[in-house]
Amino acid sequence: MNQNTDTRKVIVTGATGFVGSHTAKIFKENRRSDSPPQSVIGIDRELTIPNSTQYLDTFVKGDYVDHVAECAMDNNVNVIVHCAGTSLVGPSIADPGEYYNNNSAKTNLMLESLAQAGWDGTIIFSSSAAVYGIPKDNQSLTETDIKNPISPYGRSKLICEQIIEDHCRAYAFKGIALRYFNAAGCDIDGTLGHTNDDTHMIPRILSAYQKKEAFTLYGDDYNTHDGTCIRDYLHVEDIAFAHLDAMFLADSWKFWRGRFQAYNLGTGYGNSNKEVIDACEKVVKDKIEYIVTPRRIGDPDKLIANSKNFRDDTDWSPMRSSLSHIVETAWQWQQKLV
Ligand SMILES: NC(=O)c1ccc[n+]([C@@H]2O[C@H](COP(=O)([O-])OP(=O)(O)OC[C@H]3O[C@@H](n4cnc5c(N)ncnc54)[C@H](O)[C@@H]3O)[C@@H](O)[C@H]2O)c1
Repeated sequence: MNQNTDTRKVIVTGATGFVGSHTAKIFKENRRSDSPPQSVIGIDRELTIPNSTQYLDTFVKGDYVDHVAECAMDNNVNVIVHCAGTSLVGPSIADPGEYYNNNSAKTNLMLESLAQAGWDGTIIFSSSAAVYGIPKDNQSLTETDIKNPISPYGRSKLICEQIIEDHCRAYAFKGIALRYFNAAGCDIDGTLGHTNDDTHMIPRILSAYQKKEAFTLYGDDYNTHDGTCIRDYLHVEDIAFAHLDAMFLADSWKFWRGRFQAYNLGTGYGNSNKEVIDACEKVVKDKIEYIVTPRRIGDPDKLIANSKNFRDDTDWSPMRSSLSHIVETAWQWQQKLV
């Protein structure tokens, strides 16, 4: 799609986190035959995945709100992939201020600084299925479905989308929000992955198994075929490639500055928690012990993405997201975390 051969500079915020590090690696390795080389500047306030900086040309340790505009202007960056954020539903209910501040308020300040500096590039934003809240039925979610987030986290993400959309319109930026459903799996080369304290389903199962502890399954009385929640798991490398494809898509909006578009990102099918446990048993070749506790408040029966719009508008497809591949790559990484 993009035939320009100049090196282009990209900023990734949250570049040492789970999604940000995999995304930086895919950009850095230039893994699209027709894409120009990319030089990646990563910004993160922590070293979340310690060896992740190897995929960055430059690492800036600090808060994204303090560094993005200056880095963008000094380095002639025209694409910012904004992955930094705080992203846990439970803690966002306990400490909403932190979520509105770190996700929404700082995103607003970052965009204001970019506008004041005269920047006019593309921002690709890590959004979430949490913007929808509880689906009205068990069908897959499309972008036009009602957005009624039930946690401060989900609301902070929806506010970010609105802030980005308004800044695109006012300052002729281009914006794409990618609403990921469940990011899972790890880098196929085994160099990047989740952290030891990751609270997502697959890392929790594998970590409990590794520690010879029983995994806690929240609820088996949902309205699904086996009683456990169904979620749409997308391999983190498919998410990383989606950012690259989103960049090319924004390039193609040549005469459409100021445009903002939000897209769902998922496989379009789901797996129940019991199916995920079965897949983990196949990969570790052993029985996984688990205990069932009451369901958590606010967990919908089923969350599935309809990603037709993103697939139609780009060359993207979730090629790496079979459940077996997701669990194999996660287990390959988990064994290094001992
Ligand atoms: N993992 C998922 O399943 C999932 C699903 C939907 C959306 N998302 C979104 O994707 C993004 C990345 O998620 P993740 O799973 O990689 O989380 P993560 O916690 O692994 O990574 C987030 C990174 O952002 C950094 N960060 C946070 N606030 C910062 C700040 N103010 N300045 C600089 N760095 C900051 C953290 O240090 C961390 O390295 C988040 O915005 C999250 O809301 C994730």
